[in-house]
Amino acid sequence: MRLQLSTWQEVDSYLKQNTGVIVPIGSTEQHGPNGLIGTDAVTSEKIAQLISEQHDVLIAPTISIGMAQHHMAFSGSISLKPSTFIAMICDIVTCLTSHGFTHICFVNGHGGNVAPLKVAFSELYSEYSFSKRTCPFKCEVTNWYAGKRIHQLSKELYGSSEGSHATPSEVSLSYYIYPESVKEAVMTPKLAPEGVIRDALDYRKQFPDGRIGSDPSLASIEDGEKICAAAAVDVYEAYQAFLKE
Ligand code: NI
Repeated sequence: MRLQLSTWQEVDSYLKQNTGVIVPIGSTEQHGPNGLIGTDAVTSEKIAQLISEQHDVLIAPTISIGMAQHHMAFSGSISLKPSTFIAMICDIVTCLTSHGFTHICFVNGHGGNVAPLKVAFSELYSEYSFSKRTCPFKCEVTNWYAGKRIHQLSKELYGSSEGSHATPSEVSLSYYIYPESVKEAVMTPKLAPEGVIRDALDYRKQFPDGRIGSDPSLASIEDGEKICAAAAVDVYEAYQAFLKE
């Protein structure tokens, strides 16, 4: 069930049975020479939609712009500052919980969102902690790219060429979702360098074509289909465990 395609009465009746919601979240940032700028958002969204087709789970609209300040030296990247991102997450969670949702699960496709998401959750909880009131909701972040099935599958498919940004796994998944947007590019060097992420100009200097440790020329639509199915199982399993808390 998708929030954007539901009426308020349908949301009312969903809330009588179920108070969990999945919020897909990604980023709008460069993904190397053959990766789509929307990779992190379109992948999270697809996995969430697949889960909602298979199970009775409400999916909120995808948050497509995240915290990606370090990608700003590449054309097309759009980022929120951490403070803006945190404020946005707090507002979204506050709105959802005001309607009676108790379990807010962010299905995330971008590593840079993890720290500010957790800070946002602490901001929300601190309102209750400081006044010693019981918090009526819980928040969680589930990174689709870090589930156990995905970990296993990416190891089998790409070994040490997976890397950590513009990975063949995420590029494959985006190609499966948008086969008309598959790109051809030569990777030089074949395997991208590794390093520490800081500001945007430092990032561009260390990782000139945007990739970190990966060889996304290995990406394929066929792999993307397997990755999508495995990620949906990983994420749904994590969501079910979260609901039981
Ligand atoms: Ni990504």
